[in-house]
Parts: sequence; structure tokens; C-alpha cells
Amino acid sequence: MPKVSIIGAGNVGASAALRLAERDVADIVMVDIVEGLPQGKALDMVQAAPLAAFSVGITGTTNQYESISGSDVVIVTSGLPRKPGMTREDLLKVNADIVSKVTQQVVKYAPKCVLLMLTNPLDLMTYHAWKVSGFPAQRVLGQSGVLDSARFSTFVAEALGISPADVTAMVMGGHGDTMVPLPRYTTVSGISVVDLLPAEQIGRIAQRTRDGGAEIVNLMKTSGYYAAGASLAKMAEAIVRDQKRILPASAYLTGQYGIRDLYIGVPIKLGAGGVEQILELKLTDAELGELRKSAGFYKEQLKVLGY
Ligand code: 2OP
Repeated sequence: MPKVSIIGAGNVGASAALRLAERDVADIVMVDIVEGLPQGKALDMVQAAPLAAFSVGITGTTNQYESISGSDVVIVTSGLPRKPGMTREDLLKVNADIVSKVTQQVVKYAPKCVLLMLTNPLDLMTYHAWKVSGFPAQRVLGQSGVLDSARFSTFVAEALGISPADVTAMVMGGHGDTMVPLPRYTTVSGISVVDLLPAEQIGRIAQRTRDGGAEIVNLMKTSGYYAAGASLAKMAEAIVRDQKRILPASAYLTGQYGIRDLYIGVPIKLGAGGVEQILELKLTDAELGELRKSAGFYKEQLKVLGY
């Protein structure tokens, strides 16, 4: 049985765990710093197995990293969540320390895994984890574009009064205010959204997508987790089942889109090897300008971390 470990058994980690279990993707291990929390959540989820009819095992440990040995995928959600009014970047230094410690344990006990990051600020924490891990860049990536694209798809579906299942969106760039929703690459069963909605309305939807995380934080005073958990589960499943899915993720660029030595959201092919390919879309000058602006912002932020 494949194995997915999730570091951080908070709401997002637990949401991802349950979705993966319900799809029988892999045995799940949750690790947290809080005594009893991962064990309790694991026990609770396992008791849903007869009801949801899944067969994988779910266990939890407190700081016992041996339990992640042999993982195919390790998801890192550890870190402080955003509070209202706080940007993702405010979290930079405090979460970098947490990510360092966690990544060292992952390298020790699951040296062959694909490392899937969620901790914010996402693109910076993914770069940091890659550096600390010493893993090939192909085996370290961050979840953000799947969630941001899901938000874009949701709002497009809502505007058109259609099923969200028929909308495929593409959002590139960093997971923050500079993200780059791409209406030209957003389709409804193959029809470009540009042909279905007025430009002004698409603009409003794109902005709501950029603010999608903050909208939830403002409502419930902490970060969202259902859609983020579903995004992580989709990505982990693509890796475990070697599905070769094409989706946006934070990946290490070596000159694609004129950007190098940076993790940022781009379309990738995701399979057992991790980031198996980075796709280079033919962007307009305006789209490319937005992407490079986003990259420039994160380049500056990386300096705060000493890179
Ligand atoms: C989100 O976008 C907080 O990054 C998280 O919901």
C-alpha cells in the first residue's frame, strides 16, 4: 500500500487526510506537535471507514517522525495560519523556522518522498524546503494553483449558472496578491470563458480569486481548509497513482518564462516523479508582465530569508 504522511494535523491536514482515505489512495500518517490531536483525529477518521467504505489505514503520532518512514508523499502543512489583516508574507520568518525543522525530519525518515508543501507564504516556503532538503527540485513542489484555480472555476460557474465540474481554470504566479488568473486559459467544456462572460465581469472574478483566501479568513477568522485539503488530496493522488495530471503548482523554474531560481505557480505534469514537466504557455506580453511582476515580488521576499 502506498503511504502519504501529513505533517500538521490541523484542519487542512485532516481535510486532506480524510479525502485521501475516502478515495483509498494510500495509508495515511498524520504527525503533529500537539499530544493526542493526530491520534484522536486518526481514530475518528478510522471509525468512518465502515461508513464511507474505505480500507486504508490512518494513524497519528506526536513528533514521532519515524512513523513517516517509507512515505511516497509527505505533505507539510505545519506553520501558523494567517490571522485577519495579516498577509501571507507576514508569516515568512516564523514559518521558515518551522519548515526547516520539519524538512530535516522528512529528509531523515522519508528521503525518497515527493515533498508537497502547503505552509504559507507558499512559494517562499517551498523554495526554503527545497534548499533545506537537498532534494532534486523535481521532488519538491507547492500546492497553490490547484486551489486558486478551483476558486476561479467556482466563481465562473456561479456567474454562468453552470456546473463547476465543467470549468477548468488556470491561475499562475505566486499564491498571494500577485497571482495571475488567466481567463484565456480558462474554459467551460473547451469554450474559453473570454467568449462567455464580459471582460469586466471576468476582471471582478479574477480579483475575487486573488482575494479568495482573505475572503474566508475575514469571515471565519482563520484560513480556509476544505478546498485546500481537496487540492492537496488531488495532488497527492496524482503522485501516488502516477496520473500525469496537468495542473498549476509552485515549481522550481530554471529559465522558463524568463524566470530562474524561483518557485512560483506554473502548469506542470504531476506524476510519480513529482514535477515531471513544466509547461510553457504562450502568454501575451501583458500576461507575461504580470507573471514576472509576481516573480519579482517573491525574489525580493527570498532575500528576507537570506537567499
Ligand atoms: C488560502 O488561500 C490561506 O493560503 C490560504 O486559503
